[in-house]
Amino acid sequence: MPQPTGSELPRRAIAVSGGKGGVGKSTIALNLAIACAQGGERTLMVDTDLGMADLNLLLGVAPEKSLLDALGGTPLEEVLISAHGIELLPALNGSYLLATIGSSTQRRLLELVSSLSGRFDTLVVDVAAGIGQAQTTFAGATTDALVVVNPEPLSMADAYATLKVLSIEQQVKHAFVVPNRVTSRAQAEELTARLSVLVNRFLDLEITTLPPIPADPMVGEAAQFGVPLIVHAPDAPAARAIRQLARALTISPASSTSSWWRAHAAAQGATR
Ligand SMILES: Nc1ncnc2c1ncn2[C@@H]1O[C@H](COP(=O)(O)OP(=O)(O)O)[C@@H](O)[C@H]1O
Ligand SMILES: [Mg+2]
Repeated sequence: MPQPTGSELPRRAIAVSGGKGGVGKSTIALNLAIACAQGGERTLMVDTDLGMADLNLLLGVAPEKSLLDALGGTPLEEVLISAHGIELLPALNGSYLLATIGSSTQRRLLELVSSLSGRFDTLVVDVAAGIGQAQTTFAGATTDALVVVNPEPLSMADAYATLKVLSIEQQVKHAFVVPNRVTSRAQAEELTARLSVLVNRFLDLEITTLPPIPADPMVGEAAQFGVPLIVHAPDAPAARAIRQLARALTISPASSTSSWWRAHAAAQGATR
């Protein structure tokens, strides 16, 4: 049943991207969503890595229906699945059709998500690897863009490429950067300092660095169990760091908004 939105909670929509595959986008998106839910926010998660559907594995669910059905007209309540306090609009593993949707179908997908906005406070979008049109559309549609970067040169370059296309193609003016799989705070600081220098020099974009997430073997163990990290090992260093990340996002000034979408994305038709 649709319910009125709680006015005391900020409406926020966070798209988690990062250019490179394997940097921890899905891990961070999922655990961030659950951390938001644990904080009392009604949280919706959308898997826009449409043909890979990693979130199903990380959540330990095997949905009967997917976004493909929703796009074909199946009511969303038959497609949404609940797990660990969040609801997920799942993708479909191995679906070439879903993986290759064009821009008008992408718009319909965003409209479907919009139609759920009365039932949820917070939206977390998991974005596929790469800087193609689809990834850039989803990464740039939401009020908050969060880019994951790892301490390795290729990840740095791909995070910069993501920030660049968000700035140039989507006119994003602000993005959050999260260093993941770091082995020390100094390493995280060096990484974000280098990225900041590039962004400040070449892009019309401001970045805010969020608390880093350490390299933690429990991340892989949780994935093997099909249980989200912050449920499987709530006291693991990476789980603590993700809760800290959720808190840092909550208090950041970019958070409060009446819509999940940026004005630019809305102007392009994302919410029509
Ligand atoms: N902080 C971390 N510490 C250790 N392993 C991690 C961490 N973050 C991610 N991983 C591992 O890296 C791999 C890729 O993570 P995933 O979230 O699927 O990345 P992406 O969605 O960017 O492709 C997985 O095997 C995951 O367990
Ligand atoms: Mg992923």
